[in-house]
Amino acid sequence: MHIVRGKKIDTLYSAEQIAARNAELATQIKEGPTEDLLVISVLKGSFIFAADLIRAMHSTGMAPEVEFITLSSYGAGTVSQGVRIIKDIDSDVHGRDILLIDDILESGRTLRFAKELMLERGARNVTIAVLLDKRVKRQTELEADYVGFECPDYFVVGYGMDVAYAFRELPFVGIVTGDAE
Ligand code: IMP
Ligand code: MG
Repeated sequence: MHIVRGKKIDTLYSAEQIAARNAELATQIKEGPTEDLLVISVLKGSFIFAADLIRAMHSTGMAPEVEFITLSSYGAGTVSQGVRIIKDIDSDVHGRDILLIDDILESGRTLRFAKELMLERGARNVTIAVLLDKRVKRQTELEADYVGFECPDYFVVGYGMDVAYAFRELPFVGIVTGDAE
């Protein structure tokens, strides 16, 4: 258990567990379509995972181009639910192999939007890597090609992920369990 700024946080996945899993994911990614590979980090939550995963990919000999897209969900749970592009990538994806990297796959709306967008733009192949998969929350058919951990249905923080803008800097994935006395 950690105490961070007055909150108790239990470790769900330690920095060591995540690093070991990233190395395994990189090995799996290398076996897939990686010719002229463009990695797209889906901001904000994926920035630390993407930074570590692309260095693990480098260790296996891959040299992807790296891009960033900022997406935002709105009206989740309502009929008007959708995803909006806040900041787009600059590169042309036509004919290329794309690897989308995100922190968590939950309903699947965000990544489904991103995958369809890249396919509409003429990407040859789009694969998805996520650190965490919360399968019980899925609302679309979408599956990730590479999953770090099948995550229980807790709200998690750290390793890039926030609650109310806090705790992105933690080097592990944790669960806020309450206030420290
Ligand atoms: P969805 O798959 O479209 O529902 O989107 C999942 C997104 O919601 C993730 O990429 C995160 O940014 C955010 N999210 C979902 N669950 C959590 C959580 O437990 N902690 C922090 N962010 C979360
Ligand atoms: Mg996200």
